[in-house]
Amino acid sequence: MSITPRDPARPLSENQHLLKWVEKMAHLTKPAAIHWVDGSEEEHAALCQQMVDAGTLIRLNQETWPGCYYARSHASDVARVEDRTFICSLSKDNAGPMNNWEDPFKMRKKLKALFSGCMQGRTMYVLPFSMGPIGSPMSQIGVQLTDSPYVVVNTRIMARIGLPVFKLIDKNVKRVVPCLHSVGAPLAPGQKDVAWPCNNEKYIVHFPESREIWSYGSGYGGNALLGKKCFALRIASNMARDEGWMAEHMLILGVENPQGEKTYVAAAFPSACGKTNLAMLIPPESFPGWKVWTVGDDIAWIKPDEKGKLRAINPEAGFFGVAPGTGDHTNPNAMATLRRNTIFTNVALTPDGGVWWEGMTETPPERCIDWQGNEWTPASGTKAAHPNARFTAPASQCPTIDPAWEDPNGVPLSAIVFGGRRAETIPLVYQAFNWSSGVYIGATMGSETTAAAGGVQGKVRRDPMAMLPFCGYHMGDYFRHWLKMQRNLSETPRIFHVNWFRKDAQGKFLWPGFSENMRILKWIVDRSRVRALARETPIGWMPRYEDIDWTGLPFAKETFEQLQSFKGSDWISEVIGHEELFIQLHDHLPPEMIYERELLICRLRFD
Ligand code: OXD
Ligand code: MN
Repeated sequence: MSITPRDPARPLSENQHLLKWVEKMAHLTKPAAIHWVDGSEEEHAALCQQMVDAGTLIRLNQETWPGCYYARSHASDVARVEDRTFICSLSKDNAGPMNNWEDPFKMRKKLKALFSGCMQGRTMYVLPFSMGPIGSPMSQIGVQLTDSPYVVVNTRIMARIGLPVFKLIDKNVKRVVPCLHSVGAPLAPGQKDVAWPCNNEKYIVHFPESREIWSYGSGYGGNALLGKKCFALRIASNMARDEGWMAEHMLILGVENPQGEKTYVAAAFPSACGKTNLAMLIPPESFPGWKVWTVGDDIAWIKPDEKGKLRAINPEAGFFGVAPGTGDHTNPNAMATLRRNTIFTNVALTPDGGVWWEGMTETPPERCIDWQGNEWTPASGTKAAHPNARFTAPASQCPTIDPAWEDPNGVPLSAIVFGGRRAETIPLVYQAFNWSSGVYIGATMGSETTAAAGGVQGKVRRDPMAMLPFCGYHMGDYFRHWLKMQRNLSETPRIFHVNWFRKDAQGKFLWPGFSENMRILKWIVDRSRVRALARETPIGWMPRYEDIDWTGLPFAKETFEQLQSFKGSDWISEVIGHEELFIQLHDHLPPEMIYERELLICRLRFD
């Protein structure tokens, strides 16, 4: 019996709002065809084949890299574009000084002109997605219209897509967030396409009141996979503020002790601080019976349950991780995760149809093709992979994926960790005195910019709760929302700050990091369960040398003390840095932040 192939132009939903919107946007963008995405295996295979034929994807050696594909972007389209990202709230004041703002009426006009006819010669995919497990009360739904098949196959890994989502939309249970995306490269009749279409002019635009996203000109993940940063952080932070929950730039992990007791921790670090490594940590051999389970590596949606305890879900279904620096020594779990069914972007291609990037193996391949398509050898003097090269890999393939990672009700949170990359001033670990001092610590956290992030190397950038590029409204109001959250909680998670990156006077890292971070994680977990000891200091509670489990690691007490030290004189500059942030936010800054700063100053000694 032959089965007639599905006609992709036939709508897969009966929702009249959706049908009308698709029609309206098709009228605006003028695609050559419309494809309703069902999310099936066959559809995925056909899209990949189509992109292989078009030169967008290269199929990797299927024996060594089953189900894996490789893409090279245009050299100008390799990262998020913060200066082209806009929060177009009705009032400029609601976007706050940390966001680019434009009048929503003016921006709509601008976007309508840009999107007019922008999909000519291309197919418009109607891509429904659920952020969070399908049907979970904590999940949200979006539909992305996109002219990029690369976006469709990546979103299939990063979110739950296709027919089950259309079913939910037809039940009308949740508001759908409309997301419109175009690479901004229409094709004239007969015009040959390029491997990575994009446009020099880029706009990543959010309308928080109407909960809409419009993205133009880029095919790169953070700008084009709209469920991720645009929806799950910028739009969701607005929803969360209005509805009493939190959308955070946090990994989620579960620490299991030898008795089988599990404690969940969420942690916020700015980009390029090793979130994926921490989320997939393997405890040192001297920690038998301890295990770290991965729930998510980038985003957490956190909500109080009916008992007043915070629970968290990972709204994503995959990892969009930075490849360079990921290897069997630094993160074997990530390496195991990306061995199959993964899309690599801007890494290097090896002669045997595999991939390579700096840090994947100690010895580089003798030759390969670099991320720009050029012959490369270790003598080339350039990077084979772009520093922001990525892998898009299914979370379900992670060897340490937590059995509860898709629990519709999320996992209970016992601790929240903030952290940054700081060569000086900030100790390895300390615990906030309480929720509001913890909010202060998160609000004032800073991190040194790295060359990879495109900034000036070594400059401290304040990145409140690691949300600087992702908070979809005024940062001062965001702090207020954090403070308010406590009122609905019967039990608050304990709040900590860590700094894995402190250096000695010679510029050498004082802390080994990676697996050894387990020792600090153990103290954090035990403190959250009120089991570990600590001493009170002016900045918070700190472990003494004997409060950390050093089994299997000969670590000098003096080095630990150097790691934990803090000087009043350094903290003067630190508090001035906090103040610079607060001045920018002054007219929305909750008074608690001022009180906390004053208390901190009063406790510090400046001699
Ligand atoms: C990311 C980022 O890609 O934070 O996760 O930039
Ligand atoms: Mn991130």
